[in-house]
Amino acid sequence: MDRFRINGGKKLHGIVHVSGSKNAALPILVATLLTDEPCVLRRVPNLRDVRTTLKILEYLGKKVIYENNTATITANGTLKNDLPYELVKQMRASFWVAGPLLSRFLKAEIPLPGGCAIGVRPVDIHLKGFEKLGAVCEIKGGNVLIHAQKLNPAQIILRFPSVGATQNLLMCACLIEGETTLENVAKEPEIDDVICFLKKMGADIRTDDKGRLIVRGQKSLHGAEHTVVADRIESGSFMLAAAATRGDVKIANCVPEHNAILINDLRDAGFTVEVENTAVRVRAYEGDIKPVDVRTAPYPGFATDLQAPWMTLMTLCNGTAEVNEDIFENRFMHAPELVRMGAKISTEKSIARITGVKELSAAHVQSSDLRGGFALVMAGLCAQGETEVERVYHIDRGYENLEQKLTALGADIVRFNPDKNDF
Ligand code: UD1
Repeated sequence: MDRFRINGGKKLHGIVHVSGSKNAALPILVATLLTDEPCVLRRVPNLRDVRTTLKILEYLGKKVIYENNTATITANGTLKNDLPYELVKQMRASFWVAGPLLSRFLKAEIPLPGGCAIGVRPVDIHLKGFEKLGAVCEIKGGNVLIHAQKLNPAQIILRFPSVGATQNLLMCACLIEGETTLENVAKEPEIDDVICFLKKMGADIRTDDKGRLIVRGQKSLHGAEHTVVADRIESGSFMLAAAATRGDVKIANCVPEHNAILINDLRDAGFTVEVENTAVRVRAYEGDIKPVDVRTAPYPGFATDLQAPWMTLMTLCNGTAEVNEDIFENRFMHAPELVRMGAKISTEKSIARITGVKELSAAHVQSSDLRGGFALVMAGLCAQGETEVERVYHIDRGYENLEQKLTALGADIVRFNPDKNDF
């Protein structure tokens, strides 16, 4: 299994170009199931989760060409309406094919996604929504069998603004004739990007003054072309890595307002952050990093996906900062690893208290999830000496060309595989 070896203590410097958003690309790829016509998607990041999604589309019967970050998806005969566990267990977002398949074939059979490193992650909100739309959901042999004689439009109030459930139900409603209303929906920028693509496919979706999504279903949707929005989590991750290494980095090709809260928090911590139309620059800063408390929340709140890298920054603050994780129940797996690097962190349920230290020390650590893995890379970039980060496959799910991008910013980071004596 690949590892990173990082020789830390170097300030990041220069310009980094942000890739297309993973969390927008995945549902947009899935949305191509709503049509038999060709779809062309650009700025699709070459990531493990994207490759898994492309495999899913191929398994379901689509023809996929993926070159230079452009995915061309075309029909290749009749689509299947089931998925094997092998594909679902690699990525929970696989479950999102349920909505499009249900609306097209009135049946979808998908293995129930299990728990994952960051919590139980149920799909009850998705299933309740499908039931409201007239489907029956049954669990058999580890699979969810979702079927209907006929689907009907409905008014659905989500008990929590789940990103995945919003996307799944939205895609399903696009092919149900009549008006479906989705209330208490997620408002993440990735949802806007999915809506933008669905509209290009001919969907009729609008947001009313109460923030509800109103979908007027169509008989069919057509092919479309789309360029995926910039990845705000990657953008934020680079802002935090620049700050923690006391570097000076321009994050280019991003959408600064998607990281408005993070930029404010960085300024509160003492950093100068300059915002341009499509770029953000974190300026070199040698002063004290002030402790800033954060609480994760649905967008536009502080992104749970930036909680772990934020924690790494706070390990170096002058004082004590609190991090409240209110989205996922078990998303502090990086904390004990950071402690192994000299951080002072105590966790209790959903709260982590971080008392800043002068510097982190290099160590051998393990990533247990995608963003936690990035937090450890960040810590390795800050710590003097040689840090090894194991289980890079988690990080590969969500950061395109990470070591190349960091190397271009002056970091000393290499990927190697000890099993292949690849030292
Ligand atoms: C998406 C993002 C992920 C991000 C998360 C929250 C993708 C591919 N992933 O994940 O990076 O961290 O949003 O911003 O876009 N929940 C339920 N029942 C459900 C659905 C969700 O209880 O039916 C709970 C989850 O367990 C979790 C919370 O709601 O505690 C948020 O989950 P959700 O918004 O659905 O996250 P994902 O769509 O899985």
